[in-house]
Amino acid sequence: MTALDGVSLDIPRGTFTAVMGPSGSGKSTLLQCTAGLDRPTGGQVFLGDTELTGLSERRLTLLRRSRIGFVFQAFNLLPSLTAEQNVALPLRLAGRRPGRAEVLDVLERVGLRERAGHRPAELSGGQQQRVALARALVTRPDVLFGDEPTGALDSTTGQEVLSMMRTMVDDGQTVIMVTHDPVAAACADRVLFLADGRVRDELYAPDAEQIAARMTRMAAVPC
Ligand SMILES: Nc1ncnc2c1ncn2[C@@H]1O[C@H](COP(=O)(O)OP(=O)(O)OP(=O)(O)O)[C@@H](O)[C@H]1O
Ligand SMILES: [Mg+2]
Repeated sequence: MTALDGVSLDIPRGTFTAVMGPSGSGKSTLLQCTAGLDRPTGGQVFLGDTELTGLSERRLTLLRRSRIGFVFQAFNLLPSLTAEQNVALPLRLAGRRPGRAEVLDVLERVGLRERAGHRPAELSGGQQQRVALARALVTRPDVLFGDEPTGALDSTTGQEVLSMMRTMVDDGQTVIMVTHDPVAAACADRVLFLADGRVRDELYAPDAEQIAARMTRMAAVPC
């Protein structure tokens, strides 16, 4: 079967894009393909001037480590490592010996500098996701991807994570995020609506009501 079909997209630098659509519409597949975690069977994906679809596995891994950040619904932190050690991990994987100040700086950006020595089990869900956000940002990636990053959080905590992402975009970060939540999507500059692997619609700077209305209309099955 076809997970994505005829998708043609341009995501400008420094913008916040939300991707919405029913379960199975291809949102995660779109993210995985654009982040170089998965290879489409046809078509091309570019990150700036680099064609991801033309890279060997090895080069793709190196590119992902240095130019792509990813946060998931599950925070995926290593339980035995402190927040600081979790954030430092991508730099270590890239063969660098991370400076302490550099790591603490990123934790400061997500408001968790004073929690640097805590392990994930000692942090709330929202704090764990902020550590995951810091870990995704420590390499200064060209793009930050989020697959339902607030899906496991209550609305207040989710809103904190979202407003941090919004601030990062306002500071120049490019963010692409899948969400089911119209309030979360309203933080974005642009919302793409997927159905059956195709981009069916998009809205620019919409509010949550407009997004919810569009979702309802898309879900309406003629009988
Ligand atoms: N590894 C895979 N192998 C085969 N089919 C897959 C694979 N991953 C996803 N699919 C299929 O591709 C389609 C799109 O899946 P995808 O996970 O991208 O949907 P989604 O929009 O993220 O859904 P959800 O909101 O439930 O997370 C679905 O029909 C799914 O069953
Ligand atoms: Mg998904």
